[in-house]
Amino acid sequence: MLLESACLNFAPNIRSPVATLRLEKGQKVAAKKRKTSADLLVGIDLGTARSAVVTSAGTAMWDRSLVGWPRDRVAKKLIGKSVVIGNECLQHRLALDVTRPLRDGVIRKSTTRDEAAIHALADHLLELVGADDDQRILAVIGAPAEASAYNKALLKDAFAELVDAAMVVSEPFTVAYGLDLLIDALVIDVGAGTIDLCIMRGTVPAAEDQRTIPQAGDFIDQQFMERLRAQYPQAQFTPSMAVQWKEAHAFVGDAHAGPLEVSMPVAGAPRQHDISAALRGACESILPHLREELRSLIAGFDPEFQERVRQNVLLAGGGSQIKGLDAAVEEMLEELGGGHVRVVEDPLFAGANGALAIAQDTDPEDWDRLEQAK
Ligand SMILES: Nc1ncnc2c1ncn2[C@@H]1O[C@H](COP(=O)(O)OP(=O)(O)O)[C@@H](O)[C@H]1O
Ligand SMILES: [Mg+2]
Repeated sequence: MLLESACLNFAPNIRSPVATLRLEKGQKVAAKKRKTSADLLVGIDLGTARSAVVTSAGTAMWDRSLVGWPRDRVAKKLIGKSVVIGNECLQHRLALDVTRPLRDGVIRKSTTRDEAAIHALADHLLELVGADDDQRILAVIGAPAEASAYNKALLKDAFAELVDAAMVVSEPFTVAYGLDLLIDALVIDVGAGTIDLCIMRGTVPAAEDQRTIPQAGDFIDQQFMERLRAQYPQAQFTPSMAVQWKEAHAFVGDAHAGPLEVSMPVAGAPRQHDISAALRGACESILPHLREELRSLIAGFDPEFQERVRQNVLLAGGGSQIKGLDAAVEEMLEELGGGHVRVVEDPLFAGANGALAIAQDTDPEDWDRLEQAK
């Protein structure tokens, strides 16, 4: 069992002088490193849709957070495996029962199968790392902010068998840490299952600095499909077609003008359909929820620093790629006095890179302590 207190004891090596000042109370700054080549540091972003892993040796890999079990003996024989993980699940999806362990098992209380799925996913990610036998593996795992204490323990158990020491931290924090946005900043992580907002005060964020909105990428997908069905009742499409269209064209407001034509069969014959109105409506359906949480989170922040936070907003996660979302959030901030929003450059690896930065900045003695406490 890994230490629950690990996250609290984590002492970031803050690079900004302002941040160091704010950190002095109750937090120590990391000592000089004495890592050996026998240590492989690993940063993991365990997402509901996609998981990414990066290492101090330069490896950067990602896969979909999917775990599938063959539906029956024939399926098992066909696939030649008792469990299938990641992208491969999509190739064999008709022969598999597929779960998204982080979505299905972390938010609600997990079943035995969810637990097995999390173990399988953890195992797969560590295989991607390709560590040498004699290396100590020290991992920082960014998990959905929503993961409850119960499920954090589950995540730690899953990784305990695979690594020498690990810490579980909330994902928006890993993103913020990796980009040095540790103080007077707001991270809005638009994922598949949730949007996570996290205010950075120069310390490890407390519960009141974070908000989780259940309307995110999956919600947009549902809305999009409902709108398409209502608009074109005769047209046929699958959920994966809808997601592909969304990921290629997603936009809000006036970020796109004119029709967006795609082909959908009607009574077996391909026909062009304009999806722009359905897609815009679906993407905009998350905005009222975001506006409300943004307002309440900023209003709860120290009035002296609200202005600085508004000027320092980062959009992260796959949903940050929705065209015009940055402008829409700036418009929301306008109502609160104005602000500046930027979009993360590498939404796929920002969380994992931040987790690796935390691993690198963690005091070696803290790693030793975590290893002994296992
Ligand atoms: N270009 C894009 N435009 C809009 N949404 C996107 C785009 N790329 C990915 N997404 C959506 O982002 C979500 C996945 O984001 P991600 O940050 O990987 O989620 P998680 O952290 O929950 O695994 C999915 O709903 C996906 O469809
Ligand atoms: Mg994520």
